[in-house]
Amino acid sequence: MANPAQIRRHHHITLCSGGAQEDYDFHTKVLSLKSVKKTALYDGVVPIYHFYYGNDLGEESTLVTTFPMRQSGRKGRKGTGQIRRLSLSVPQSALGFWAKRLAGHGFEVREASRFGERALQFQHPCGLDYELVGIADDNRKPYSNGEVPSELAIRGTHAIVVSVREHETSNEFMTQGWSARRTLEDGRFVRYVLGDGASGQIVDFMLEPELPQATWTFGEGIVHHCAFQVDDLTAQDQVKFNLEALGFTDTSERKDRGYFDSIYVRTPAGAMFEATVSKPAGMTVDERADQLGTKFQVPPVFAHRTEEIMAFLEPLRY
Ligand SMILES: [Fe+2]
Repeated sequence: MANPAQIRRHHHITLCSGGAQEDYDFHTKVLSLKSVKKTALYDGVVPIYHFYYGNDLGEESTLVTTFPMRQSGRKGRKGTGQIRRLSLSVPQSALGFWAKRLAGHGFEVREASRFGERALQFQHPCGLDYELVGIADDNRKPYSNGEVPSELAIRGTHAIVVSVREHETSNEFMTQGWSARRTLEDGRFVRYVLGDGASGQIVDFMLEPELPQATWTFGEGIVHHCAFQVDDLTAQDQVKFNLEALGFTDTSERKDRGYFDSIYVRTPAGAMFEATVSKPAGMTVDERADQLGTKFQVPPVFAHRTEEIMAFLEPLRY
């Protein structure tokens, strides 16, 4: 029987970064993404910033979100069993521009290629691994008012790279649980795609059996999870039901994240994936479209502690 619960594409990727200002400047100034939302992590009792970066409206698959962890003092350890690299799409013709721009900002840039796609690899100031991949035909709308002209700007996510000790344990999860197709192999890489496999619909697995297990907690310097878009709550229920029927019972209940509803699953690769349904108003639930990201939005769970929270969080200049 066909599985009607289709995973469509990336929704957002969430990273544990370092200092709040460092993270904000890196994404909004160097990468020229829009600050779509400034809020805090909805879980826990000690507040941690949650920043969303993306295009003008913070549309699905343009979103990179971060928890700047330095204030907490908690550090992560990179390794296998975790998402290792975030891959963002830029126009193919813009790779030269970006190489110069990143070098001009003091970043060490390395040219790489995977599955015939050219990439510029570099690190977030806190050590997270990024790359910009040159894509000729990505029609997603970039941020229209950044430091980088929109014709050269980042279009959104391209792929995630998951570090694994072996490939085969992920195959059943990806093909039967996550509606993906295994399409390509290249040395230690295996590619899975969703839908037509365009940018924002790609999961690459990278074999790194020599590495220790990465940490899974919130800690500076690691990717925390990748969220994927599903159509509606019915489809989300079916994703969860189907995963549990396959035996992947480490699947969370539905969580209200303010701008979307989420379920989380610890994949056999070790990385955490999320199946997400955007709320109808999306990022405009609490701010008008032309004011996105202009004011700190106190999460509902902290609403009764607003003053305390604002005094506690690191000051941020923007
Ligand atoms: Fe998420």
